Amino acid sequence: MKTIILGVTSSIACFKAVDLVKSLIKKHSLEVILTKSAGLLVNKTIFEKALGKGVYENLFYPGWGYKDYLRERKMAHIELADRADLFVVAPATANIIAKMAYGIADDLLTTSLLATKAPVLVCPAMNVNMWEHPVVQANVAALKKRGVFFVEPEEGMLACGWGGAGRLADLGLIEKEIGHLLFYPSRLRGKRILVTAGSTIEPIDPVRFIANRSSGKTGIAIAEEAARQGAEVILVRGMTSLEPGGKILDVKIETVNEMAAAIKKHIKTADVMIHAAAVSDFYAKEKSSTKIPSGKELALELSPTAKILEHVREWNPNVFLVGFKAEYKVSNKDLVNRARELLQRSRADLIVANDVGRKKIFGADSTSVVLVSSKKDTGCQGTKAEVSRKILSFL
Ligand SMILES: Cc1cc2nc3c(=O)[nH]c(=O)nc-3n(C[C@H](O)[C@H](O)[C@H](O)COP(=O)(O)O)c2cc1C
Repeated sequence: MKTIILGVTSSIACFKAVDLVKSLIKKHSLEVILTKSAGLLVNKTIFEKALGKGVYENLFYPGWGYKDYLRERKMAHIELADRADLFVVAPATANIIAKMAYGIADDLLTTSLLATKAPVLVCPAMNVNMWEHPVVQANVAALKKRGVFFVEPEEGMLACGWGGAGRLADLGLIEKEIGHLLFYPSRLRGKRILVTAGSTIEPIDPVRFIANRSSGKTGIAIAEEAARQGAEVILVRGMTSLEPGGKILDVKIETVNEMAAAIKKHIKTADVMIHAAAVSDFYAKEKSSTKIPSGKELALELSPTAKILEHVREWNPNVFLVGFKAEYKVSNKDLVNRARELLQRSRADLIVANDVGRKKIFGADSTSVVLVSSKKDTGCQGTKAEVSRKILSFL
């Protein structure tokens, strides 16, 4: 049985954590730590009743003596941190997020969080203005970069009477994420996965370039998911406005040639390459070294760029290779046929094919793809994170 340590902080949503406790104890061994303020907001006996045992609150218990500690060598914050298969903070206040971002350890929960090696999942809940405050967003981004997982708050009516993002995420969603983190954290441990994302750009002159509508969401979701499953991830990304979370080596490039060079540098030691970037198909044959004057007609001569996917096998014959194929308004049969042609041409193990003309896919949170291998083709739709999990399940 896996052990979850649940930290409950003093958001008004801490009442919902009681239901989370009732549900989690059915499947897991559970310990609860309340912050001092959470204990003021909800009577701890409500948690104790749901949990069937006492909750943890204090770093120093009344009447503690250092000799007891030296004799027993047992300190709650180290013991709890050590026993955790997963540490969950739900609900998480702006305050705990800030403390975690800065490594502050001034109570039992923050000290245990600093002492744990277990994956940490944070489920924020707060007023919309607090959630949108730049310092909260910066702290969340810093924690994500360090590998802390988040189930982001939902939009809706908030307890404070305001509407907007800040509601604790649906408990079902939080439990799903808990199940996922308990099951997956070591699935890809020891694997090196190279992921590409975003659009490459090809300059026309010093200020203009050719690019495409790829948002980079799918590639970044795959990189984050692979890191979550314990892989060592190298993300080679072109133009995207998104910042990846998780422990990821982040390599930024602009042109097709730069992307190819970065791939060549990292592919030799990679076990897997997932090429989700939307690489430019053309580059301007003549690049002006000065800004081309506006206001008059201009003919651009374009040349085709090298197809990176078709060269990967030359650089590493053993890598498990996943390519992407974007088509525009074709039948399902043509989509699969063209993906299978690419599969053969590039000697890839899997092609993720989608039709970007069917519905809004660029920049959307969800997608619909067909996973084409030499043996079969499998339709898959859902959020880009869900589709990422499906793709990684092929490894
Ligand atoms: C009734 C009430 C509701 C609160 N709800 C929230 C909340 O939803 N999110 C939040 O970040 N802070 C909320 N706060 C503020 C926190 O309780 C406060 O920042 C506290 O210092 C956080 O301490 P803790 O993180 O140690 O629990 C609330 C305060 C009160 C009095």
